[in-house]
Amino acid sequence: MKEYLAKVAGLEGNADRGEKVYQKACIACHQLGLAGVEVGPNLATVAAKPVEQLMEAILDPNRAVEQRNATTQVTKKDGSILAG
Ligand code: HEC
Repeated sequence: MKEYLAKVAGLEGNADRGEKVYQKACIACHQLGLAGVEVGPNLATVAAKPVEQLMEAILDPNRAVEQRNATTQVTKKDGSILAG
């Protein structure tokens, strides 16, 4: 297990603080309930996953990206960017 995973594996969750972090850092890409934008998976579906797996997804997000979640970015001649 990576060192950062060992450090957080024993920590307890705090839903109130998590909600605040989510509002600031995650809502642009993840839905939770009806809030947020669905770029990444809906976070309601990850509650049952093991802590190590969640931490790895959050702290080392490029390690595993499922094909259905990969995005393509196109820069148009006028400089504007399309992603999807
Ligand atoms: C720039 C967009 C973006 C932001 C911001 C973002 N994520 Fe993600 N996240 C993604 C994408 C895309 C995936 C899917 C990657 C994959 O296919 O494995 C993902 C995957 C995850 C997963 C794994 C889900 C699963 O089903 O295995 C977790 C957990 C997660 N993110 C949590 C967070 C948290 C918590 C935050 C805020 C601290 C956050 N993400 C911020 C885009 C984002």
